[in-house]
Amino acid sequence: MRVLVTAGPTREPIDPVRYISNRSSGKMGYAIAEAALDAGHDVILISGPVNLAPPDDATFVRVSTSDEMFDTVHRHADKCDVCVMCAAVADYKPAKVSTAKIKKRREKVSLELIPTRDVLDSLGHRQDRQFLVVGFAAETSDVQENAERKLREKNCDIVVANDVSSADSGMDSDLNEVTIVSRNGERRKILRTQKKIIARELVKIFVKSATIMFDKKNVTVTETQLSEVIPNSSPVPRVAD
Ligand code: CTP
Repeated sequence: MRVLVTAGPTREPIDPVRYISNRSSGKMGYAIAEAALDAGHDVILISGPVNLAPPDDATFVRVSTSDEMFDTVHRHADKCDVCVMCAAVADYKPAKVSTAKIKKRREKVSLELIPTRDVLDSLGHRQDRQFLVVGFAAETSDVQENAERKLREKNCDIVVANDVSSADSGMDSDLNEVTIVSRNGERRKILRTQKKIIARELVKIFVKSATIMFDKKNVTVTETQLSEVIPNSSPVPRVAD
């Protein structure tokens, strides 16, 4: 299969020397790209600025702003079977970008921000799409409820949610713990472990789901439950709509 992965933050410029951004190491997205390559898939990795070397065998596109991320994803999505939106795209950008460095003044300043385009939402709502759409949800509370809401609102097939309120897992860390909510109603949890191990399990789930939902690549499958592909995970109760 062909797997598109976005990773890292975006940077929204204020002037030539300043920007607003999100905290994101890119580790989870890069781990998913590596795991997909290891499993024999073709990978397009679209990454914001991070301190990680891209995997040798991936097609790699470096982007900076949310607009570049949006355009690049849409340029490649139709060639892909699975699109995994792991990037921490900025939700807002400055309404105006100054071409000259803004000089320091003594009085208060405020910055007008406008919403960026939501890459995941636009992919999820693409008419007649033939690719699986996976979103990520970084939450500090009500993890599963928020994941279910994002799944519905952005018309995703799967949302992988993690709790970023704890200092020792999630952002910047090599460890993570995730809850996976799926369009077909399945809810799974992978307990705290290495992002590389989580990535391997996620890739199995994505590939299996794409095969079932879009009848990809002539692979013959029976309607196997996702639980069969993540032996170390445990089911979690579904949150009511
Ligand atoms: N996302 C995106 N484009 C944006 C913002 C977010 O594609 N402009 C994607 C992220 O890549 C992720 C998902 O949306 O897959 C959820 O991102 P998150 O920041 O958790 O959610 P938001 O929709 O931004 O909502 P909130 O910040 O209110 O939780």
